[in-house]
Amino acid sequence: MLLHTPSFRSAALLIVAAAALLPACAPKSELDPDVSEPLIQPVARFEFHKAAPEAPPPGSRTGEEIYARVCTVCHATGTLDSPKTGDSAAWAPRIETGFDALVQSVISGKNNMPPRAGASDLTDTEVQRAVAYLANQAGAGFTEPQ
Ligand code: HEC
Repeated sequence: MLLHTPSFRSAALLIVAAAALLPACAPKSELDPDVSEPLIQPVARFEFHKAAPEAPPPGSRTGEEIYARVCTVCHATGTLDSPKTGDSAAWAPRIETGFDALVQSVISGKNNMPPRAGASDLTDTEVQRAVAYLANQAGAGFTEPQ
């Protein structure tokens, strides 16, 4: 295989090294971007993918992950008259209505809270996990479903 021969590898290394050095050696005006960019970009793209791991796919996210991505926007500060995270007094009467009622409020939406808290990609199970996580911060003893 040509790709695995040592000479091909050193040639490829040379090209990468030359691409990296080009901007330093040549004044900008002499660089033809059509030539230099395709050489430089694959290296940059590789680094980008390494630095930004993909978000977990819908259905597999934990209550804490969903809370941090979606629910915190309102509940962290009590925005729009939402019960504030960890505020036991605000949450107690709601927790008393039961887990299923709270989950239903999030799925259907309630007053200033839009359906699925505005995150339409949340599955029902993910809503349950997030409700358990959020209510537990205020003392509910709910179990986050698997
Ligand atoms: C856009 C702001 C907003 C976001 C985002 C939001 N909420 Fe809410 N939430 C509210 C408001 C406002 C209320 C109070 C609704 C009421 O009783 O009038 C509320 C109430 C609740 C309640 C109590 C419902 C009840 O029946 O008393 C639960 C549980 C809840 N939110 C869970 C969540 C979860 C879980 C998330 C994230 C997936 C979330 N919320 C994201 C605004 C928000």
